[in-house]
Amino acid sequence: MNDPRNRPIRSFVVRAGRMTGGQTRALEEFWPRYGIEFSQSPLDLAALFGRAAPRTLEIGFGNGEHLASLALAHPDRDYLGIEVHRPGVGHLFMLADANGSTNLRASQHDAVEVLREQIAPDVLDEVLVLFPDPWHKKRHHKRRLIQPPFVELVASRMKAGGVFRLATDWEEYALQMLDVLGASALFTNLSPTGDWMPRPEERAPTRFEKRGARLGHGVWDLAFGRNLPR
Ligand SMILES: C[S@@+](CC[C@H](N)C(=O)[O-])C[C@H]1O[C@@H](n2cnc3c(N)ncnc32)[C@H](O)[C@@H]1O
Repeated sequence: MNDPRNRPIRSFVVRAGRMTGGQTRALEEFWPRYGIEFSQSPLDLAALFGRAAPRTLEIGFGNGEHLASLALAHPDRDYLGIEVHRPGVGHLFMLADANGSTNLRASQHDAVEVLREQIAPDVLDEVLVLFPDPWHKKRHHKRRLIQPPFVELVASRMKAGGVFRLATDWEEYALQMLDVLGASALFTNLSPTGDWMPRPEERAPTRFEKRGARLGHGVWDLAFGRNLPR
């Protein structure tokens, strides 16, 4: 039973990561308002947000600046975030409180497990995976999030007509995303050229996007529409 070969692949390493005082306080004080406890039963999202509005999920939101700014800019939509890194969740809660956001909730847990256990089928209008860990070394490629089983899981939680948006600063991972999503019968590439999308103007550069720019990396954006059931 404890054979390590049977362990699910983890796309992250939990770094100890020092919490600032503000992040610790925000996590404690605002968890009841914004936090989602992990459990093995599906969430009632309409009850969680107190309404039924279009829903965006951001997976691996890092320090949460992008997610917080989206929630502020679109009060007519609801925003869910999943991030394993505790300081990032604390930082998101600080921003959400400062913005007075009521349309945002977040989980500090593995996104694969949250999607599988807590997100019901056909409930998400939009899913964002921005600058996921590229796992550069070949022997670590198996840790990459964007692989067929994960893409199928995401698709199963999305509404038909929903949009899956991705970005990376690592060309070889961008090509893997294009291959994996392009080969899925569940999605259609929304790029007019059949490959990349223009960078969305609305996106304030994320922390990892800025880091990539400092290192001279390019940015590849992708968007795939969830197909209607046949
Ligand atoms: C390279 S960082 C990018 C962060 C942010 N999107 C940005 O662009 O600045 C990738 C993030 O994904 C998170 N992550 C990786 N795998 C995850 C998983 N399975 N569930 C939740 N978060 C995950 C990591 O903790 C990390 O914060």
